[in-house]
Amino acid sequence: MSSPDTSKIPNSLQEHWMPFTSNKDFKENPRLITGAKGVYLTNHKGKTMIDASSGLFCNPLGHGRREITEAVSKQLEQLDYCQPFQQGFGGSFELATKISRHTPGNLNRIFYTICGSTAVETAIKISIAYHKAKGDGQRFRFIGRERGYHGMNIGAVSVGGMVNNVKTFASILMPGVAHIRHTHLPEHKFISGQPDTGVELADDLERIAANFGGENIAACIVEPIAGSTGTLVPPKGYLKRLREICDKHGILLIFDEVITGWGRTGSPFASQEFGVTPDIITMAKATTNGVVPMGVVACKEEIYDAVMEAAPKGAVELFHGYTYSGIPVAVAAALAVQDIIEKDDIFNRAKDMSPYFQKGLFSLKDIDVVDNIRGYGMMGGIDMKTNIKPGKAGFECFKACYEAGVNFKATGDCLIIAPQFICEKKHIDEIIDKLRAGILNYSKNLKN
Ligand SMILES: Cc1ncc(COP(=O)(O)O)c(C=O)c1O
Repeated sequence: MSSPDTSKIPNSLQEHWMPFTSNKDFKENPRLITGAKGVYLTNHKGKTMIDASSGLFCNPLGHGRREITEAVSKQLEQLDYCQPFQQGFGGSFELATKISRHTPGNLNRIFYTICGSTAVETAIKISIAYHKAKGDGQRFRFIGRERGYHGMNIGAVSVGGMVNNVKTFASILMPGVAHIRHTHLPEHKFISGQPDTGVELADDLERIAANFGGENIAACIVEPIAGSTGTLVPPKGYLKRLREICDKHGILLIFDEVITGWGRTGSPFASQEFGVTPDIITMAKATTNGVVPMGVVACKEEIYDAVMEAAPKGAVELFHGYTYSGIPVAVAAALAVQDIIEKDDIFNRAKDMSPYFQKGLFSLKDIDVVDNIRGYGMMGGIDMKTNIKPGKAGFECFKACYEAGVNFKATGDCLIIAPQFICEKKHIDEIIDKLRAGILNYSKNLKN
């Protein structure tokens, strides 16, 4: 066994306040990643681990893609930055055209942001701007969903529905937001794919519209598959019913596809996979294979047209944008990703590997501490039983699995598994074998 290379641990770990991290735990027992290639990560102890969650769902094309590295460095040499307000460069237009070839329906108008949270914030603002432009300025309410995750700025937290993210900040959240129930029913046990029951949960939106007046609601935002809460797959017919209720009341439907976008379900977007076209899609993460921050909002053409037409000629039509909206380096990475998607037939690759991955995932069902498994395409969630405080099992199990050589994201009592699309069957086998070993170790510790 290789001895720890302590030279890779910085002298002090105290100054960096880490995000979404148990800082105290981490600083006692650091897990530093020192390298990444393909489906593997290396840590500061020289240990190799398989990446079972594509980073944070963002590197489905594998780590260290030469094509992306080269495109980014070439771009940096040619044009490192240009301001995105009242100015531009060719690449961002080229990318918008490429993205719009994959988006469903006529969601062909592309606004760039910095990340998923700012994509959601932008979608919220565009919804308001659209309704105002149409003379519907009374529509100020937003509907989110329990157990939804949309990011971390105030707008995204307000429409999100994960309680720990909300508790500390409840006093400063956006007014006028209501939540429909999440779609996870007690009978949804060990179901691969869409559950047969639960379509009626979409009627919560109708009830809220009856309560507040559908004409006052600007938009309803959901993740087609709730990712960060552990892969809650929508019941059959659920998304279609949400679409119908939105249409009835003139409510915009926003699909947050920050996780499900770019092939996670086997289709370019979950929208196509489930046959439901929203009015706005948000995306981020895999857009650049995670190497440069970038968010994207795709809107129906009529939304863009309405906002354009409402503004006088020569005026800025939408008072919104970021210093880093569609900067050259992010665009270069995203264009390289588009090339790889085409060249390597990435969506079909994800689709073809999905049944094998799902079979492997559900083979873990026999482990006594596994409480539930859900999955769709190249994503899955494993709920763990615990005899410690609820909400802690995921992290404890994550640490056991990390030692067993498999890395992923944990949330609450759930393990979130989202392999890279470049995985071959042997990699899926390795992920599943190491998960089994790690979960069994977690289970032993529980009993001691
Ligand atoms: C569905 C969804 N929306 C938004 C976000 C926020 O993205 P970011 O962390 O890039 O701001 C995430 C992040 O995981 C997400 O899963």
